Formats: sequence, structure tokens, C-alpha cells
Amino acid sequence: MNLPTSPTPSLLIRGAHLVLPDQEPMQGDLRVEQGQIVEIGSELSGGADRVIEATGLWLLPGVIDPQVHFREPGLEHKEDLRTASHACAKGGVTSFLEMPNTRPLTTTQALLQDKLDRAAQKCVVNYGFFIGATVDNLMEVNTAAPACGIKIFMGSMSGPLLIDDESALEPIFATGTRLIAVHAENQARIRARREAFAGRTEPAVHSQIQDNQAALEATQLALKLSKKYQRRLHILHLSTAEEVELLRQDKPAWVTAEVTPQHLLLNTSAYERIGTLAQMNPPLRSEHDNAVLWQGLQEGILNFIATDHAPHTLEEKAKTYPDSPSGMPGVETSLPLMLTAAQQGRCSVSQVATWMSTNVAAAYGIANKGKLAVGYDADLVLVDLDQVKPVKREDLLTKSGWSPFEGWPLTGWPVITIVGGQVVYEHGKVNSEVRGQALRFSPQLLAD
Ligand code: DOR
Repeated sequence: MNLPTSPTPSLLIRGAHLVLPDQEPMQGDLRVEQGQIVEIGSELSGGADRVIEATGLWLLPGVIDPQVHFREPGLEHKEDLRTASHACAKGGVTSFLEMPNTRPLTTTQALLQDKLDRAAQKCVVNYGFFIGATVDNLMEVNTAAPACGIKIFMGSMSGPLLIDDESALEPIFATGTRLIAVHAENQARIRARREAFAGRTEPAVHSQIQDNQAALEATQLALKLSKKYQRRLHILHLSTAEEVELLRQDKPAWVTAEVTPQHLLLNTSAYERIGTLAQMNPPLRSEHDNAVLWQGLQEGILNFIATDHAPHTLEEKAKTYPDSPSGMPGVETSLPLMLTAAQQGRCSVSQVATWMSTNVAAAYGIANKGKLAVGYDADLVLVDLDQVKPVKREDLLTKSGWSPFEGWPLTGWPVITIVGGQVVYEHGKVNSEVRGQALRFSPQLLAD
């Protein structure tokens, strides 16, 4: 429970389509006091410090984005916690879980605390951080707190965060109980294929070098170790049909997996249009993979959505492949992309709330978030599903200043975002005075 330190004004949101858990959306009102949802119903009586007339708009639990790279400390020319959290507010993301590949790498309690301190100063939304595993911080990855989990890069990384052989991975799976989140790509295969494709500079070759097999092999290894030790495992940005099939056959109750909007909606054809802006790890795949990932999400094999927001400057992205960095921003577009998919009939608006909020809170044991329910924290987003507006570079708040989805006509743009009962974004403007809170993670809450 996140009680605000000073009283926040009460809110009454009236006449919205409420996206409630385990039932069809219904038109109604929702009251917020002291940062919490205190009443849900129709035509609620009594006033509030602020009444928001929301007829025609849809109210969802705020998005919890469980994989972002916000670049602070050390890489602030790409993004920082202030710009990233403003972008979150604009995108309806009210909480984020951030990755340890900053400079310095987040591998100790002191460095984790430094990020928490920075976030407390700068973030207008709620925040949590991963602790990064190296070959020599086994004790610290299990004790550093609060951490949402241990991040392991099995591939696509250089330096101390890369742990690419089984003998180094095994002690991490064998020690402790905390959630382990893996970036699953087999580095040995990537290395060999880099050599085989040396000299090729067209960005599309990226998907051939880091191919489906590289992802599958690493996911197989992570699954094997997780089963051996019954260790809580989360597979980050799962990207291939083969991995969905693997999990369809064999997914222990303690394993979860996520998918990004870009792996659902973009494929290798994007290289022709946007070149290295489509370059990320794991790479974009085929149209067939897109379809199977959607299927996996519908079936519950994939549990939720993460953006892997990984901003790089346009100047960096303009380098010739393979010198161009991998990664793309995402927190401002993920909710409208998924709501547009819902409007196109690919899923329901309720599923979007489940995949972008409810299931994330359950998997990471974030109490009192992820649902429109009495007693839950008032992290909320009001969206407009009637208006269609294209993604425009000039509208973006990410410091990187671009999106792989520029020009895409999307619906479901946030109109108002609320964090802990405070309006943090409204009609195009961020309230930079708002501060989010550090998230807490309770290991006893497991995924559904
Ligand atoms: O494309 C990516 N870029 N994937 C990752 O997992 C890391 C990220 C980055 O930090 O740039």
C-alpha cells in the first residue's frame, strides 16, 4: 500500500467506461481518496475536491511496464529518469521496472540505492529496479533491496553483465528464491553467426545473425535450470514462434513470459522502411512469429506486455550496421498500440488491462496495483477510444525523440494519467511536481 506523505485531493471520475477486473467494462463512477480507490459504482453521490467528467472516455488501471532501460546514471544523453518518467506519464504508464545496464551497472546494494534516490528526486511515476547478475555478485543479487528481480543477460551484451555459459548460470539458479528475469539469446551462436555474416551492413541481416534458434536455445537452457531448481523464472521479450511452442509443451507454474508490442506488430519488413530504427535485441522476426506471439498471448502462454524501452539518439542509430546500437523507445506508444489492436478486433480492451497491468502486478508481487478495485492504489489512465491520431516525432517526450511507429494512426491515447491519486498528465501536459513512489515486491504473490 502506497500512502501519500501529504494529503492528496479527492477525485471523482464520472461516467467513464470502467475496465473492471473479471467482468465486462461498464459505465460508472470511481472515487479516489488519499491516493486510493475508495468507491466504484454508478451515479455516486457526494462531491470531491475535483470532479472529472469522463463520459465517452475509458478508465483503465495505469500501465505497469516491466522492462525499460532509462539510461540514468551514465547514459543521460539518450534518456534520463525525468524525461523517461514524463514519457511514461504521457503514455499512461504509472509504474516501471528498470534494467541494470546503466553506467555504472546496477550490481550492488549501493548502486541500487543510488537509482532509488535519483528516482525519488525525479520520477513522476512509480519505479522499481532490477539488480544485475555478474559472475561475482551472487550474494548481493539475492539480498539487495528493494529489487524486482535479478536480471541475467544470457546474450546480446558485452562486459560483466553477460553470463553466457551454463556453469556460470547454474549457481545463480541454485541460490536464493528471487525472480530471475532472462534476456534469452545464445551468445555463442550469435558470435559464430556474426563471423559468418561479417562484412554485411544491411540492417535486415541483424535478424539472421541473432536468429530464432539463438533465442530458442537460450530459453531452453533457462527453462532447464529453472526446472532443476524450481526457481522462479521470467522470460523477457520472448520473440519467436519456437519459444511459444516450447512453453506450450512445457511451462511450469513458476515460469512467466512477456512480449513487446514491437514483436507483436513489427516484423523484418520494417527494415526496408526504417532501417536501423528497427534494430533491437532480440531482433524483429517474421509475420508468422507475430501471429504465433498473438496466439501465445491469447492462450496465456505469454503473460504480459513490456516495452523494452531502449532509447538511443538518432545520431547513434544513423551509424552503419553493425555499429548502430540495438533498441527502440516504447513507453509513449505501447498503450495506444495495444488499444488500437483492440479496436481492430485482435483482443479486448479488458485483455489490454490484464496484459499491461493486472498480470504484471501479480507476477512481480506488487500489492494493491493493477486493477480498478476498492482498496487499490489510484494509478489510473483515462483514454479516448474515439479519436485517431498519428504518432508524431514532435509530440514525443522521450529524449531520444523518435519512434519506430511514427506515422501510425493510433487510438486510445491517454487524456489523463493519475499516479497515487495525483493527476500527472492532462491534455498534453505533464505535472512535473508529482512524485511517484518506490514499488515493493512480495515474493509470495505468484503469477496466475
Ligand atoms: O535492443 C535492446 N537494447 N535490447 C536490450 O535488451 C537492451 C537494449 C539496450 O539497453 O539498448
